[in-house]
Amino acid sequence: MLTDTHIVFIGGGHMAGSLVGGLLEKGLTSAHIHVADPDASQLQHLRQRFSVSTYTDNLHALRDVQVVIFAVKPQVFRVAARPLGAELAKSQPLVISIAAGIREKDIRHWLGYDAAIVRAMPNTPALIGAGATALYANATVSATQRSLAEAIFEAVGLALWVDDEKQINTVTAVSGSGPAYFYLIMEAMESAACELGLPADIAYKLVQQTAYGAARMALESRDDAATLRRQVTSPGGTTESALKILEAGKLREVFLNALTAARNRAAELSNQFGKQES
Ligand SMILES: NC(=O)c1ccc[n+]([C@@H]2O[C@H](COP(=O)([O-])OP(=O)(O)OC[C@H]3O[C@@H](n4cnc5c(N)ncnc54)[C@H](OP(=O)(O)O)[C@@H]3O)[C@@H](O)[C@H]2O)c1
Repeated sequence: MLTDTHIVFIGGGHMAGSLVGGLLEKGLTSAHIHVADPDASQLQHLRQRFSVSTYTDNLHALRDVQVVIFAVKPQVFRVAARPLGAELAKSQPLVISIAAGIREKDIRHWLGYDAAIVRAMPNTPALIGAGATALYANATVSATQRSLAEAIFEAVGLALWVDDEKQINTVTAVSGSGPAYFYLIMEAMESAACELGLPADIAYKLVQQTAYGAARMALESRDDAATLRRQVTSPGGTTESALKILEAGKLREVFLNALTAARNRAAELSNQFGKQES
């Protein structure tokens, strides 16, 4: 089904580029992918890399498409969406937004009709095909369109549905911002290793490979993270000594506070973008 679909990207930046790459790998032909962006040099780069058709005028990209993906920054979403509403209302394609914080009701309002809309929250590992994306569909989205949206984001990693749009803010706090939390832990482990006398390049490589190995074990094992942690924690051993310090430092509480702050900030940004003059 995906391979017969014409997909238009409004905005041809980093995220659009990674999705296009993933879709081509999944068997979509470049003739089925169209990218619109005001930046001609950006479009030239995409043409050279993927042989997709490109447009500097968003409206020209919209003919005979089944899916339109808005891959623009949240602050330009309204300006990009409003001129396209009348044309999209005629063909009624699935509209997908990957813009952080832009609510479905605001997109519907800017397009000016009861559009079938999926909001997607991917994360940066999508750029290397290892993303985690949560999807939310409004009531107008058909079962076929849901399958299409899922297939598009599975082209760049894992895709999961949430039922309540508000959960997208929590997703933003967990997997959207999540890569940064792991990088911070890696940084902290690297600098501790150096403090304890390891050369920086050795510390860097050991931490990277340990993060990769732990993530792979968690993904491939049937055991949950708590079980895997207990399996490497012998009573009276070295790991236990370290974990006692992390628990005493209230790491779990720190994470709860951190994710709550990110979730609340996502909600604030949604309100701010939604209040933009319509
Ligand atoms: N990168 C991530 O990891 C990530 C994760 C989750 C969600 N997102 C969301 O994905 C969206 C895109 O992010 P990105 O990193 O791909 O941004 P990006 O690289 O800046 O790409 C956005 C592109 O849209 C173009 N654009 C601006 N106004 C336009 C218009 N009116 N019509 C068509 N195109 C227009 C921009 O051109 P100019 O540069 O000339 O303005 C730029 O090439 C954002 O809303 C972001 O919240 C990104």
